[in-house]
Amino acid sequence: MKRFIFIFSILVLANSCMESREEKLELVKQKGMEAVKELHETMRSNLKKAIKERGTEGAIDFCYSKAEEFTKQVSEKVGFRIKRTSLKYRNENDKPDALDREVLTTLEEKFKKTGKLPDYLIRRVTINGKEFYVFYKPIQVKKPCLKCHGDVSKMDPEIVKAIKEHYPADKAVNYKEGDFRGVIRVDIPADKLN
Ligand code: HEC
Repeated sequence: MKRFIFIFSILVLANSCMESREEKLELVKQKGMEAVKELHETMRSNLKKAIKERGTEGAIDFCYSKAEEFTKQVSEKVGFRIKRTSLKYRNENDKPDALDREVLTTLEEKFKKTGKLPDYLIRRVTINGKEFYVFYKPIQVKKPCLKCHGDVSKMDPEIVKAIKEHYPADKAVNYKEGDFRGVIRVDIPADKLN
């Protein structure tokens, strides 16, 4: 009987641990997706405004001067650090760190093999002694992106020139529609999940 109670308690304990882990991951997913949505909406509405007001020039201007600023604004609004990164990055400030590189490489290999990308990916890490859940949302290239990330020989020369001027070491061109472009990363401190 004693042994039975012992095993039973272990099972209950293990089960509740698993449940709380799953609950945490579900919360990370919710918060991550919310942050990504907020970033998309902010970018889209502001880019639209820039194009409406100042055409292609406005769009280019928006991207090199405002994309970073809006990412920071959204980070502050949702309360988590948000970053866009890629193995072929344009902006030096978007350069992947070691964790990003591992995730980007894993996703790229998966995409090459299966032609598919997961909806999202979560890594649990310690950064400067603090525990984080890092949420990654893969991004694919859509048709409108090709204007600034497509085949250079087919891009508007004005755009090519502007990009070269601002990002002489640009790696983010010659993509095709559907390609894996990179990720949006959201750092969620573990203590914010309780
Ligand atoms: C009008 C030009 C333009 C269009 C259209 C455009 N981008 Fe960009 N993109 C840029 C510029 C300029 C940067 C670098 C500035 C920044 O955002 O930090 C950039 C940066 C990025 C980054 C951050 C990583 C990096 O390379 O620095 C991602 C991810 C990205 N673009 C994805 C996309 C996707 C996906 C689309 C289509 C939905 C798209 N872009 C459409 C100009 C554009």
